Amino acid sequence: MTILGVILAQVGLVVLIGFVRQRHQYLELEKRQNRIQSIDDINDFSRRLDTHPNQVDSTWQGFKAFKVKRRVYEDKNHSICSFYLAPMDQLALPPFKPGQFLTFKLSMEDAGTGESKSLIRCYSLSDRPYADHYRISVKRVPAPDDQQDAPPGQASNFLHDQVQEGDQLMVKAPSGHFHLVEEPQLPLVLIAGGIGITPMLSMLNALLEKGVEREVWLFYGVRNSSELIMRAHLKKLTEVYQHFHLHLCYSRPDEQDVMGIDYQHAGRVDVPLLQETLKLGRYQFYVCGPKAMMESIVPGLETLGVDAGDIHYETFGPASLIKNEKSRTGSTDAQVKAMNVSFTESGKRVDWDPKASSLLAFAETQGIEVESGCRAGSCGSCQTVIESGEVEYSQEPDADIEPDHCLLCIAMPKGDLKLAL
Ligand SMILES: Cc1cc2nc3c(=O)[nH]c(=O)nc-3n(C[C@H](O)[C@H](O)[C@H](O)COP(=O)(O)OP(=O)(O)OC[C@H]3O[C@@H](n4cnc5c(N)ncnc54)[C@H](O)[C@@H]3O)c2cc1C
Ligand code: FES
Repeated sequence: MTILGVILAQVGLVVLIGFVRQRHQYLELEKRQNRIQSIDDINDFSRRLDTHPNQVDSTWQGFKAFKVKRRVYEDKNHSICSFYLAPMDQLALPPFKPGQFLTFKLSMEDAGTGESKSLIRCYSLSDRPYADHYRISVKRVPAPDDQQDAPPGQASNFLHDQVQEGDQLMVKAPSGHFHLVEEPQLPLVLIAGGIGITPMLSMLNALLEKGVEREVWLFYGVRNSSELIMRAHLKKLTEVYQHFHLHLCYSRPDEQDVMGIDYQHAGRVDVPLLQETLKLGRYQFYVCGPKAMMESIVPGLETLGVDAGDIHYETFGPASLIKNEKSRTGSTDAQVKAMNVSFTESGKRVDWDPKASSLLAFAETQGIEVESGCRAGSCGSCQTVIESGEVEYSQEPDADIEPDHCLLCIAMPKGDLKLAL
């Protein structure tokens, strides 16, 4: 009986080992298949586009025509819509740096006068580079909460309501200084609030798919699941790539949102959460989100001792002071009050108003018409010749500035200033 028992135990052990091995192999296979599916998903649209680019367009000057190949709503409320854009000339697109944006010239009817007009706006690329298309994801912007009778956002509502598959859009080549830095190869912390997720998606998709083994954290803050975009895609990335860590933060979870399953943290993304989650060490931080989030996180990281060179950030809205109120360095109050600004073409010489948020806002209050678009130092539309004097910037300009020019939307005078306006 004892011998029989030992034999049965041995057979059982062999069967168990075999089962464990098979299960392990099955899990490995499933993991590999998931990875392939994920890459297939990402490439799927690329394959389906019927363009056959045969030449690379290294880059282009000015605006070039793109066709909207596909539109996809990304959230439950249909307030964020992705547009897939293919070049009309079918040339292969030049690669861009993940995190960069496109500048659009949108032609539309003025709601008041009915006359046609064009608007310049920037939208971040929301996917990794492909040779045959770009993707942007646009949030519909309503009137501000405290000014409900103001007109809603012009460009975003135009894109949502008027621009359909097959339509043409005029687009400038990708640009911008907010993009992944390859060296040094530090662990990455991507911090996104709301629609600020778009450049992060581009960085994430590019990095992971390239097989780069850098540890990546994504802290993505939204109010609740109704505002979240690309949940399935992000979840899949966490399953496939062990070095990708997703932290969804809901500031106002819905009743059906389950902590630990739908999201990891109740509340906003903030510095204490980063301190709790990240081990001590050096990281590269990329931050993009609403003004309040940027104003707390960027200086917060600096206060913690993070090197300014390891903090990269971008604002989508009008220029705002984010870092420790560094503007007007070297200008005493007396100098600020004494400055004057001459608009030579308009024949105006006026005292600078220290309360003005920028030279663009100041020029507008003087009744001077200035071409503008993003009002955030990104599109370059407000570039103006400086005839004499100097300016300083409230944030780092994204658009390249020609010599003896300035970007009015983020500039303030350093002393007396003459502008060719
Ligand atoms: C580099 C960069 C990248 C960006 N990437 C993205 C992106 O990926 N996705 C995205 O969705 N956005 C992005 N943006 C923001 C985008 O460019 C636009 O700023 C945004 O879509 C709003 O533009 P709009 O024309 O719809 O709104 P606007 O017409 O410019 O209006 C803005 C706000 O002002 C209000 N307003 C208008 N007139 C008045 C008035 N008379 N009184 C009071 N309030 C008024 C409007 O109601 C609205 O709330 C990015 C911006 C930059 C600079
Ligand atoms: S308005 Fe876009 S750079 Fe000034």
